[in-house]
Amino acid sequence: MSDSFESKKVIIAGGSSGIGLATAAKLAGEKAQVTVTGRSAARLADAAKYTPGIQTTVVDSCNRKDLNAFFDAQGNFDHLVIAVSGSLGAGKFADLSLKELREGFESKFWAQLNTLQAALPYVNKGGSITLITAISAISRAPGVSGLAAINGALELMIPSLAKEIQPLRINAVSPGVVDTPWWDFLPVNAKDDTFGQYAAQLPVGRVGEPDDIADAILFLMRNGYTTGTVLRCDGGLSL
Ligand SMILES: NC(=O)c1ccc[n+]([C@@H]2O[C@H](COP(=O)([O-])OP(=O)(O)OC[C@H]3O[C@@H](n4cnc5c(N)ncnc54)[C@H](OP(=O)(O)O)[C@@H]3O)[C@@H](O)[C@H]2O)c1
Repeated sequence: MSDSFESKKVIIAGGSSGIGLATAAKLAGEKAQVTVTGRSAARLADAAKYTPGIQTTVVDSCNRKDLNAFFDAQGNFDHLVIAVSGSLGAGKFADLSLKELREGFESKFWAQLNTLQAALPYVNKGGSITLITAISAISRAPGVSGLAAINGALELMIPSLAKEIQPLRINAVSPGVVDTPWWDFLPVNAKDDTFGQYAAQLPVGRVGEPDDIADAILFLMRNGYTTGTVLRCDGGLSL
C-alpha cells in the first residue's frame, strides 16, 4: 500500500447513502478532504450530520451542464469514486419493459459516464478513479440480463480506459447483495426474507455491509499498482 489519504481531495458521486457514504466516512476518518454529491439536499444534509468531516453538494449525475459546473468549481482533485445507482432494468426478459431498461441505462450507465467524462480533466495523474458496477454483470442469473447489460457495459470499458488515461488509474468494484437503502423499494419483511435467502446460498453466510464494499474501494484507491481491474466483492455470489 503506497498512499496515505491525509489531505487528499476526494469526490464521491452518489455519496449521500449506502456504499458511497460508507466510503466517505472511512476516507474522512483517514483525514481526506471528502466531498459527496447526490440529488436530494435533505439526504445530503443527513449524511453530513452523521458523518463528521464531509462536504456535500447537490449535483445530478444525469445533468452534464451541472456536472461541468461542479467539477470546474472544485478544481483539481486526487480521487474520484462513482457510486451513482440506477434501479430499473431487472426482470425476466420476455416481460421486461425496454423503456424501463433504457431508463436503467440513463440512471446508471450514462450517469456514471457523464460524471467520469466531466471529471477527467481535473483528476490528478497520481490519483485514481473507481466505478461501482454490480455482480449482475457476470452472475448469469435469470432475470438480470438487463442489469448485466448496464453493468457489463461499464466493466468492459475499464481495461481500455486504463490504457487511455494512464498514468491515472481506473478500476471498478463489483458488489454482490449489500444491505443499503437501494433495497428500500421492498417492504421490511420482504427485504429480510430476500437477504435471508441470499445469506443461505452465499459461501460467506451473509449479505454484504456497505463497509465491506468501502474497504474494497479504498484498496483500489490506495494501491498504486492496480489499474484496469474489476474487483468482485460479492461474498461468493458469482461462484
Ligand atoms: N446495494 C446493493 O445490493 C448493490 C449491489 C450491486 C451494485 N450496487 C451498486 O452500488 C452503487 C451504490 O449503491 P447503494 O447500494 O449504495 O445505493 P444507495 O444507498 O441507494 O445510494 C445511491 C447513491 O447514489 C445517489 N444517486 C443516485 N442517482 C444519482 C444521480 N443521478 N446523481 C447523483 N447522485 C445520485 C443517491 O442519492 P440521491 O438519490 O439523493 O441522488 C445515493 O447517494 C450503485 O451503483 C449500485 O448499483 C449495489
